[in-house]
Amino acid sequence: MNEAESTAGKPMDQAAGLRSDGPAKAVSFNSTRCLAIGGGKGGVGKTVVSVGLSTALTERGKRVLLFDGDMGLANIDLQMGIVPEYTLQDVLFGQCPMEKACVHVENGPDVLVSASGAPELVDLSDARRGMFIDELFRFASQYDFFIVDTGAGIGRSTMDFLAACPEVYLVLTNEPTSLMDAYAVIKTLHMRSEGQHLGVVVNMVDTQHEGEALFEKLNAISQQFIGETLSLDGVVVYDRRVSEAIRRQQSIVRYAQNGRVACCLRELADQIMIRPKRSAQKWTLDQWVAQWQKSEFLNAEKKGQ
Ligand SMILES: Nc1ncnc2c1ncn2[C@@H]1O[C@H](COP(=O)(O)OP(=O)(O)OP(=O)(O)O)[C@@H](O)[C@H]1O
Ligand SMILES: [Mg+2]
Repeated sequence: MNEAESTAGKPMDQAAGLRSDGPAKAVSFNSTRCLAIGGGKGGVGKTVVSVGLSTALTERGKRVLLFDGDMGLANIDLQMGIVPEYTLQDVLFGQCPMEKACVHVENGPDVLVSASGAPELVDLSDARRGMFIDELFRFASQYDFFIVDTGAGIGRSTMDFLAACPEVYLVLTNEPTSLMDAYAVIKTLHMRSEGQHLGVVVNMVDTQHEGEALFEKLNAISQQFIGETLSLDGVVVYDRRVSEAIRRQQSIVRYAQNGRVACCLRELADQIMIRPKRSAQKWTLDQWVAQWQKSEFLNAEKKGQ
C-alpha cells in the first residue's frame, strides 16, 4: 500500500482527502465488488459476518478492504485485535490520508477502522459525508472486494452506505424483531435505490432448514408488499465458539478453521464469488445530493402523516 507522500512533518489541511477539486468526478468501481452488510437490528451478527466473509475471501486470494461503517460505535478493531494508530476520525479531520488509517491484518483483509464514541462522525453534514463516501469508494477501487459493515438501525449514515453498494447482504436471525427490522431496511432501500442485489444471510440458526424457512418468510413479505425478490446467500449456524473468537479477538474463520461457522462463511464467500458482478454504479456528488433530497422528501412525507 502506498504511504502518504505529502504529510511528513506538517499537519494536514483540515479538509484534506475530502475536498473535491473542481467539478465532481464520477467514481468508477471498475472490477471492485462493493458489498454492504446490514440488517437493521443490533446484535444479529453483522460484524461477525463481515469479518468472517472478509477473511474467507482473503483465503481465496482476493484483495479485500473491510470498512467499519458503524460510524461512532465502531468495533471491528476489537473483534480483530487491531490497535490502529489512526482512525477514520483522523482522516476526516485531516490528520492523515486514508492509506495511513488502513491496517493490514495478517492472513486477513485490510481494515479501515472507524472511531468509537465519536459523535462528530455520526453527525457529519450530508455534504461532508457525501465527499467522504466518494473518497472512500475511490480508495476501495484498488481492491477486489470492498466490504462495508454497517451499524444497527436505519439512520442516515447506515442507509447511505447501504444505498451506495450495488450488493447488500442483510443478516437475519430467528426473531420477529430481526425479521421486521430487516424488512424495514429493504423497504427503505427500495425507496432510495434501484437495481441492487438484495441478499440474505441467516445467522445463528441450528439447521439449514431453519435458515431457509426464515428466509422464505422475509422473501414472502418483501414480494407481497414491495415487489422485491430476495436471494438466500448464506445460512450460518450458531456456535458458541464465535463468542470465544471475539474474546480472543480473531475472526471465527481463523479461530475455528474447520468449525461449522467457518464452513458456512466460506460457503457464503463462494456463493458471492460465483455471482456475476453487479454492473458498476457510478456515483457523483450530484447523484448523492439527489438521493438525499429524495430521502428528505420521504422523511417529510412521513412526518406529515
Ligand atoms: N453464528 C454465531 N454463533 C454464535 N454466536 C454468534 C454468531 N454470530 C454472532 N454471534 C454472537 O452475537 C454477538 C453479536 O454479533 P455482532 O457484534 O457481529 O452483531 P452486530 O449485528 O454487528 O451488532 P451491532 O448492531 O451492535 O453492530 C456476538 O458477540 C456473538 O457472540
Ligand atoms: Mg456490528
